[in-house]
Amino acid sequence: MLITICIGSSCHLKGSRNVIQGLERKIKEEQLSSKIELNGSFCTGECEKGVCVKIDDELFSVSPETVDTFFTEEVLGRLN
Ligand code: FES
Repeated sequence: MLITICIGSSCHLKGSRNVIQGLERKIKEEQLSSKIELNGSFCTGECEKGVCVKIDDELFSVSPETVDTFFTEEVLGRLN
């Protein structure tokens, strides 16, 4: 599974760094590093939805506060 996090300036201001750190932490906790690849992208033009995170080509709006829920519901949900 490929997860792409926007690191453009708008998403950066909304906490993309913390979102990435949150995802890295969850991946480590769940020992899923062989199954999940994290990638950064530049602005995808959907700044109002930031922080923009894509699972394959599906777009999600994630914040540092919702990253754990996102991981559980969307990431783990797709792997199981
Ligand atoms: S900065 Fe992330 S979509 Fe524009």
